[in-house]
Amino acid sequence: MRTIAIVISIFILPMLCSAEDTASLRDLATKRGMYIGAAANIRFQRDPVYAETLAREYNMLTPENDLKFHRTQPEKGQYRFDHGDAYIDFANQHDMQVRGHALIWHRSTPEWVRDATWTRDGLIDVMREHIQAVAGHYQGKLFSWDVVNEYFEEDGSMRKSVWSETIGADYMDLAHQYAREADPTAKLIVNDYGIANINKKSDALYAWVKGALQRGVPVDGVGFQMHVRADWKFGADEFARNMQRFADLGLEIHITEMDVRIEEPVTPEKLEQQANLYGNILRACLNQPSCKVFVMWGVTDRMSWVPWTFRGFNDALIFDRDFKPKPAYMQIKNTLMKDFHD
Ligand code: XIL
Repeated sequence: MRTIAIVISIFILPMLCSAEDTASLRDLATKRGMYIGAAANIRFQRDPVYAETLAREYNMLTPENDLKFHRTQPEKGQYRFDHGDAYIDFANQHDMQVRGHALIWHRSTPEWVRDATWTRDGLIDVMREHIQAVAGHYQGKLFSWDVVNEYFEEDGSMRKSVWSETIGADYMDLAHQYAREADPTAKLIVNDYGIANINKKSDALYAWVKGALQRGVPVDGVGFQMHVRADWKFGADEFARNMQRFADLGLEIHITEMDVRIEEPVTPEKLEQQANLYGNILRACLNQPSCKVFVMWGVTDRMSWVPWTFRGFNDALIFDRDFKPKPAYMQIKNTLMKDFHD
């Protein structure tokens, strides 16, 4: 046994080691015509290790918060684009694409909108002006926009928000139309969570997109957020069927916010489970020709929304707190290196 191990390690392993072992995720993804990305934080401006990792491993980024409504128009008519512009500059310097996130989201509606009383026409004006200003400012510079984020409730009904309650169900149609007018080249995406399986919510989304396309409303793709737990029982077949029905409508599929949270204490076994889930979801995407975008919700466990949001959970990303690659990183890399349809 020992001799065999020595022969393998001295002679065989080096033969198997190719340039691909030193390749970054983005090198491998680019070869397959894929975008691999991360939600990014303005921290790249002052943290060289963070900036270097972001530029080295990813060919796409999503500003995690800085393009949201409360950041871009915190007070009526007062727009702020300096942070957003910095991501675009960073991306241009490093040949990366930028996903715009998000024009309308119930959780990023600023107080001046949320707490006022509006007529339907008054709020439509607010929405139109916001989209014209923000999508207009970034016109031609973004890969895509998440136009309305999280439009649906779990049961497939329209989520209650100032937008839906004041404007009505067609606010999403209007938002898409304004976004297309303001930036004709950004792909317009409907983004949501809890829609990987075929369920009430994904059925409602499917029905909405189908109807929207028939009505001539511009929609280019569906974003699956994919904030999941490491012990989630992922149904690859069901996810494949679900993606296929959207692809059959001519839509792109984006994995937009994947992270895999671990219930503490974090153990090697749970890190393996996490790695497998990252690999399996990426493989499902690679097997679907319309899925070319795979974005994770952050770079490093040092900075993630997970511990602030899910009590008792942590370590959801592919780099640890010291920017060392975790098993999930290796699994993603191996999956990108493997052939299609395995
Ligand atoms: C989260 C950010 O990660 C946090 O920093 C912020 O405090 C709240 O928003 N779905 C989305 C993202 O579409 O915008 C959310 O991002 C995570 C859930």
